[in-house]
Amino acid sequence: MTALLQHPGYDEERLKGVAEKLPCREVQAEMLLSLMGQPHQYSYPSILIYGHRASGKSHVMHVLMKELELPHATVSCVECVSIALLFEQVLLSFFGCDAPSLLPRSPSLSDFVRVYRQQCSQSPAKQTRYIVMEKAELLRDTDASLLSALLRLQELVGDNVTVILLSEIAWDKFRPNTGCFEPLLLHFPDYSKSELQQILSQNVHSSYSAGFYSAYINILLGVFYSVCRDLRELRHLAALNFSKFCEPLAEGKVKETDTHKLWKHIEPHLKKAMQTVYLREVSSLQWEQMQQMEEKEAGALRGLSAHTHVELPYYSKFLLIAAYLASYNPARTDKRFFLKVKEYNNNTFFMFSHTSNHLLGPKPFPLDRLLAIFYSVVDSRVAPTASIFSQISSLVTLQLLAQVSHDDQLDAPKYKCAVSLDFICAISRTVNFDIVKYLYDFL
Ligand SMILES: Nc1ncnc2c1ncn2[C@@H]1O[C@H](COP(=O)(O)OP(=O)(O)OP(=O)(O)O)[C@@H](O)[C@H]1O
Ligand SMILES: [Mg+2]
Repeated sequence: MTALLQHPGYDEERLKGVAEKLPCREVQAEMLLSLMGQPHQYSYPSILIYGHRASGKSHVMHVLMKELELPHATVSCVECVSIALLFEQVLLSFFGCDAPSLLPRSPSLSDFVRVYRQQCSQSPAKQTRYIVMEKAELLRDTDASLLSALLRLQELVGDNVTVILLSEIAWDKFRPNTGCFEPLLLHFPDYSKSELQQILSQNVHSSYSAGFYSAYINILLGVFYSVCRDLRELRHLAALNFSKFCEPLAEGKVKETDTHKLWKHIEPHLKKAMQTVYLREVSSLQWEQMQQMEEKEAGALRGLSAHTHVELPYYSKFLLIAAYLASYNPARTDKRFFLKVKEYNNNTFFMFSHTSNHLLGPKPFPLDRLLAIFYSVVDSRVAPTASIFSQISSLVTLQLLAQVSHDDQLDAPKYKCAVSLDFICAISRTVNFDIVKYLYDFL
């Protein structure tokens, strides 16, 4: 890594800082620094960095820009829903908060170039300015001239500016078919197993030795590497399972060096975690919740704490409760539970025996039944609004509800509740709703 320290024009200490923060990306960082040249020199107009997810593209750029204190604007093409936002962010980062206001409403590319030129003549670049575009492949969906213009922005605005595009997609797949200025290409290869080991081992917990943590990462990679090579995912899994790994140690049953015993202890947990590795699409939060729920089911009853960070909006909680009731109560019992004026005698109604609906699993229910139950369990009156419907679809996205009818049956969507009794009880407690009273199985 000493080569990194030899770039003229940059502070040696800072380069050292860069090297420390970029393990396994030394070659790429070195290459980028060579392309960037000395700060005051003009750099190549545009560079495309491509590589798979979590291959460190954003990380490398972030570290370089921050550690070397280079003037830059980082723009996420996901966040910039309009090109106006993109232009504003660039002008704001380079020329301060007054610059974006010089753009007209719905600015065109030429407006941007005009304002940039004007600002740049007032504060010319003393060193190269960088525009880092995250998820640059999204530029394909905008006007093709935008991408072409960005690739040679340096020439258009007459400034020492370099555009760095970050993408998961190779250049061949998003080069405009009208032809354009070709950026320099820099590929970030996937991390190998030993590189992952090295990077992950850096997150060592302060109360444990580096060797111990590294042994843990080794075990983790041994289990997960064949199915998952995503650094983000692996880091998440490592953080999630570490406390389990340390359990026997905390109980004083084994020593740090007794890897075999530690392995025996953690193996079943990791295998279980394997089944849900791709559920990460849902969110790490959910995954954690599932883990915690399972732990709870295994007897580690910790009251509400396992569920308190299920941060659902207030009405979503009631929607979920209504969905649970709709899934586990027979429809014919709804009247008995949810008629506002309750004049039934609890003891004389439905006294015949029945098979537990909880044993049979959740049943699908139509949307109108869900809403009917929802409006009767929620205390205050809520008007049926679009927000209720969007909350239902959020619950589906979170996989707390499952949509069971086909997508094309727009008129009669059916759902099933996909959460366990423990989960719904915890949710109900947070809104002071005694769900057990309303469940047919527990009468
Ligand atoms: N060499 C590395 N050393 C330490 N951490 C790293 C390294 N490479 C990546 N990371 C970490 O892994 C995570 C993912 O990296 P990063 O966001 O840079 O990936 P990416 O290539 O930009 O992915 P995407 O295409 O999804 O944007 C980040 O949290 C980052 O800090
Ligand atoms: Mg990125």
